[in-house]
Amino acid sequence: MAKILILHGPNLNLLGRREPAIYGHDTLAKIDAACATLAKTSGVELCCQQSNAEHQLIDWVQAAPADGVVFIIINPGGYTHTSVALRDALAAVALPFIEVHLSNVAAREPFRQHSYFSDLALGTISGLGALGYELALTAALRWLGNQSSAKT
Ligand code: DQA
Repeated sequence: MAKILILHGPNLNLLGRREPAIYGHDTLAKIDAACATLAKTSGVELCCQQSNAEHQLIDWVQAAPADGVVFIIINPGGYTHTSVALRDALAAVALPFIEVHLSNVAAREPFRQHSYFSDLALGTISGLGALGYELALTAALRWLGNQSSAKT
């Protein structure tokens, strides 16, 4: 069974009570549960992880191919704008990934308008709140489906 990894970066564990006017009222548990339901009905295995630590996120990315992960959905949080190291990990494993942001980073402070990930990502979803994760998962499923039908 294909395995998809969702990675949530720093401070996303606080969703629901973290600046709800910007990030919404949904908790991370609720977001992960909605994605798990979608994954189950689509017959894929889903693993959701959150860490505030850059090295932990890098370790999960590095372990992904050996764990059977075929696609990554990542919200790098604040590391979006700072982490060459996490970018390098994604480049090293060369797995397809989608970058998700709850808020519309393009409409926020100038320092949020640069991402170390967008040029490597298959695509970026930004500003659609919690729905962005489900949309990213839907896109990943479609992309994986297209890949396997191209092989047959
Ligand atoms: C975020 C946007 C980042 O700028 C911020 O540091 C976050 C969350 C988002 O989902 O909108 O932590 O990635």
